[in-house]
Amino acid sequence: MELSEFGTRFTSEAGILSLMDDLGRAMADNGGIAMMGGGNPGYIDELQTIFQRSLAEIVDDRDRFRALVGTYDPPEGNIRFIDNFASMLRRQYGWDVGPENICLTNGSQSAFFILFNLFAGTYGDGSCKSIRLPLAPEYIGYADLGLKDDFFISSKPRIEYLEDRLFKYRVDFDNLEVGSETGAICVSRPTNPTGNVITDDEVEKLLGICRNQKIPLILDNAYGVPFPGIIHTDARPMWDEAIVKCLSLSKLGLPAVRTGVIIARQEIIRAVASLNAIMTLAPGSLGAMLVDRLVESGELVALGRRIIKPFYRRKLEKAMACIHRELKGTPYRVHRPEGSMFLWLWFEDLPVTSLELYERLKKKGVLVVSGHYFFPGLHSEWRHTDECIRLTYSQNEADVERGISIIGQEIRELYGRI
Ligand SMILES: Cc1ncc(COP(=O)(O)O)c(C=O)c1O
Repeated sequence: MELSEFGTRFTSEAGILSLMDDLGRAMADNGGIAMMGGGNPGYIDELQTIFQRSLAEIVDDRDRFRALVGTYDPPEGNIRFIDNFASMLRRQYGWDVGPENICLTNGSQSAFFILFNLFAGTYGDGSCKSIRLPLAPEYIGYADLGLKDDFFISSKPRIEYLEDRLFKYRVDFDNLEVGSETGAICVSRPTNPTGNVITDDEVEKLLGICRNQKIPLILDNAYGVPFPGIIHTDARPMWDEAIVKCLSLSKLGLPAVRTGVIIARQEIIRAVASLNAIMTLAPGSLGAMLVDRLVESGELVALGRRIIKPFYRRKLEKAMACIHRELKGTPYRVHRPEGSMFLWLWFEDLPVTSLELYERLKKKGVLVVSGHYFFPGLHSEWRHTDECIRLTYSQNEADVERGISIIGQEIRELYGRI
């Protein structure tokens, strides 16, 4: 079949497609596999009960059920949710936002497709702009979103070595030159894959650059604040007119309802709504209606603090203890886990590439993700990109322990061979 340029671009070898395919197939082939590869949130019983009850209430109420399945929302998304959400942000954070600053999308992944292509690509004067990722490694899901080649430019981080075999990536502002070639800066906070939370100071500096260049700072808070709040540092929730904040209901435990929320200045919201209308007419209502009353009561943010964060914290502490035990004596390092549900392991001078390590681990029944996927837009050679793997600790704890123990054996074997 002959396809258009668009068709060819979006059907050939997208990293995220092959990764999701591979993970899915490995899961189907082998039920006993230790799944530490995907980004699925954990199942939290207490939350599932809350959402189940909320759905039952909607189903039992004829008018609400009709609104759920029988009415298109406007292209910005469910009006009641948006009103309540804006009030919540004003009340809880003092942000100067109204309903005109909020828009829903079918998952935040589609928000990034829209936002990135609004700000990067060819402009009316013939110039070309890119999305700047100031801190690689960065979320693999961005990598294939561009309608043009060379869509991203990313920057190597500064590496800070910490005690207890930890390290932290920092934005290398000395080498971050941002000029008219940049359409927007984007950073995930907490970062997928590393669990990094860029500091308030780093965000302020990036914001300063964006204000100077009159470009937006896109903050991907899929794991962060206001919800689900899987964040273990004192990061200050920030918003102003130069920021485009992207949130998602997914990591609350609702990845299948596909609901993303954008907070931005009005002209950006209008542009996103216009694309929503063209691509999907309107975003789905289910996510908005399921959590609407939690937003209205302010309980949504509290759930993060009371249930979600402690759930992941417990899992994190177990996984970290296991890593220190199983990898002791090897040259491993772990990125300081400050948020999200991932651990980022770095094996300096690893005798094989991280992709080969991934293959070896898969044969032994452990699924991780090779780190090389997470450097979209990094055009310089850097061995480090082949020395890291990402582990997810959101699923079954016994599997995580077993998986880490197998990683420990494999790493010992590999370094033993040098
Ligand atoms: C950092 C980050 N941003 C955005 C997304 C997209 O999430 P969703 O489309 O489910 O809202 C993910 C998914 O894992 C993510 O890890």
